[in-house]
Amino acid sequence: MLSTMPSLENLDLSQVRLQIRALQPQLVTWRRQIHQKPELGFQEKLTAAFITHKLESWGIPYVAGIAKTGIVATIAGTKPPTTNHAPVLAIRADMDALPVQEKNEVEYKSQHPGLMHACGHDGHVSIALGIAHHLAQHPETFAGTVKIIFQPAEEGPGGAKPMIEAGVLENPDVDAIIGLHLWNNLPVGTVGVRPGALMAAVERFRCVIHGKGGHGAIPQQTIDPILIAAQVVTTLQSIVARNINPLDAAVVTVGSLHAGTTDNVIPHQAEMLGTVRYFQPQYTGYFRQRLEQIIQGICSSHGAGYEFEYEEFYPPVINHPEIAELVRGAALEVMETPVGVVPECQTMGGEDMSFFLQKVPGCYFFLGAANAEKKLNFPHHHPCFDFDETVLAVGVEIFARCVEKFCK
Ligand code: NI
Repeated sequence: MLSTMPSLENLDLSQVRLQIRALQPQLVTWRRQIHQKPELGFQEKLTAAFITHKLESWGIPYVAGIAKTGIVATIAGTKPPTTNHAPVLAIRADMDALPVQEKNEVEYKSQHPGLMHACGHDGHVSIALGIAHHLAQHPETFAGTVKIIFQPAEEGPGGAKPMIEAGVLENPDVDAIIGLHLWNNLPVGTVGVRPGALMAAVERFRCVIHGKGGHGAIPQQTIDPILIAAQVVTTLQSIVARNINPLDAAVVTVGSLHAGTTDNVIPHQAEMLGTVRYFQPQYTGYFRQRLEQIIQGICSSHGAGYEFEYEEFYPPVINHPEIAELVRGAALEVMETPVGVVPECQTMGGEDMSFFLQKVPGCYFFLGAANAEKKLNFPHHHPCFDFDETVLAVGVEIFARCVEKFCK
């Protein structure tokens, strides 16, 4: 495991680092308070109240109730801008939890049965509060404006889009946006940042094959939807294997397939649910079309009917090269070693940060948060998920250095 956490013994600690290090105990407290009260997407009422209470106590202006539970805090810098344009940087944090029953036996365990911050969004809120607090205390360190966007419902149905539609990127117009995800696929001491595609498009489909049921011993009187579904499932894999450029990554997964009730009855229908993932925006619309061609072709060759529903859920997360380079530079300063800042961090997971990145240049990055020695390395969405809280201050410091670099 890479262990490159800057240590307090290091004599080269900058002023900013010392200020943010002093916040670490509060960052942990906030994270644990939020962790105990997890809420699902668009229901983050306690979380939003927690955030607005803090903002108020620090004298930071904000607008709440955007897209139901979203909040935008606005912090103005007092440093004179170096150009005619006063820069506006947005920092985005998601704040929703998951329908997971927590299995960790910790003092800050979820108090809401069946709900858990199993993805680390509690940490995202804590880091966002930390940077808000830091910037409000030190407005002389930056020019222009920083908007902190607390977004609901990242896990679905998606809070980014309604927040954009509500105008959070306007008035003042946001020039760039950054955001992070605490990431247990990377160890503590690492930051994953890269230009271009970071996370995949998320699309999903439902298909019902309508056959003709009958006796399992008299198949000639039936149209067997199970046989047809089996052909569809295998043929769908030919899209990735034979239609997509092998140098482009994509996934088609059928995650649910249901038909029939017993051994000697051929059922009337079979239903499948699936997901599609890819990085390159040029494939938008392609999978929908190709899936239906295959389903239609196989069904018609057997004389079966079908229903097909397809949803382009989240677009791919595409980082702007210049902002990604800015974040990389900030991360290099904080991690103090190039080996701690890695571009090998792409994932087929999805994120609705992508909607923000479609509107303004920006960068989403991963802050390594797993610590195997402390057994804090369960995967995201697992009932035992937890992360190494020492990274909270690291996240705040990376944001602070991004603000310094961008808001000049
Ligand atoms: Ni998440």
